[in-house]
Amino acid sequence: THLHDFIRGLPKAELHLHIEGSLEPEMMFALAQKNGVRLPYPSVDAIRAAYHFTDLQSFLDLYYAGAAVLQTEQDFYDLTSAYIRRAIADHVRHAEIFFDPQTHTERGIPVATVFSGIARALRDARQQGFSGSMILCFLRHLSEDDAMATLEAALPLRDDYADVWVGVGLDSSEAGNPPEKFRHVFAIAAAMGLHLVAHAGEEGPAAYIRSALDVLQVERIDHGVRAEDDTALMEHLAKQRTPLTVCPLSNLKLCVVPDLRHHNLARMLRAGLCITINSDDPSYFGGYMNDNFIAAAEALQLSCAELGQIARNSFEAAFVSPEQKRIWY
Ligand code: HPA
Ligand code: ZN
Repeated sequence: THLHDFIRGLPKAELHLHIEGSLEPEMMFALAQKNGVRLPYPSVDAIRAAYHFTDLQSFLDLYYAGAAVLQTEQDFYDLTSAYIRRAIADHVRHAEIFFDPQTHTERGIPVATVFSGIARALRDARQQGFSGSMILCFLRHLSEDDAMATLEAALPLRDDYADVWVGVGLDSSEAGNPPEKFRHVFAIAAAMGLHLVAHAGEEGPAAYIRSALDVLQVERIDHGVRAEDDTALMEHLAKQRTPLTVCPLSNLKLCVVPDLRHHNLARMLRAGLCITINSDDPSYFGGYMNDNFIAAAEALQLSCAELGQIARNSFEAAFVSPEQKRIWY
């Protein structure tokens, strides 16, 4: 249809994508066999059939179990390359990719292996006109000391990966793990010149969005759909054009919203917030970028002008130079 063609043709940037969440069941199964990792599923179909979630935690349990099949530098390269192919097909020009080193170092995989595989795929993709960077996420269910040790382990890689490693983020179980738990490690990352983002207001309250901004000093909020509970915060986000990286199909699959027709992204966009659309964990939530755009557009009757605005917002919100932004939009 016209709408689908319009969405497909829009150049976009993806700013909320967990690379471990792009692991398709086929690759999970193949890597499990190659690496001798036991999965609790007998087949690819059984993996896919297990993807029914009731909340964030019910998803995270499967997501961390699935990530255990990733072992070698080539595994991370192949995972990232597969995502990039899919992104290019959706006319994604630029992606800022989240990765969770603690999920891997905990299993004895060196952090350098993770960096190397992801970065090599991003650098190779430049030949196709694709631009990509990496955002190291701390797992918020673990301690700040653990996050600090992760940042310290990555410190010696800073120069080798200066062209791709642009920031740090915060993900995993939100409720009970407020942003301020990580104030020291975010302050150090800021002093290193890294960009700062955090998941906030997905399942957690609007107060977590405020503390991510006020205490951690993040530049973007990942999800942020609970911002509407706080009128003054909404005005602040609109005035500052603080980007929210919203993930419609993720919110639907994790029961953050009961129905996409109840999603507040259109209202927040119309209130002047810098709303972007992203896929979060596309292999688990049943859709890449264009699937998310199409689902939101159809459920919320977004106009072509609004869809164009959302795509422009993604470049506005990207961690790239003003010169690069002028080339893109
Ligand atoms: N929220 C929190 N942690 C995550 C997510 C998410 O949507 N995806 C992967 N880790
Ligand atoms: Zn996320």
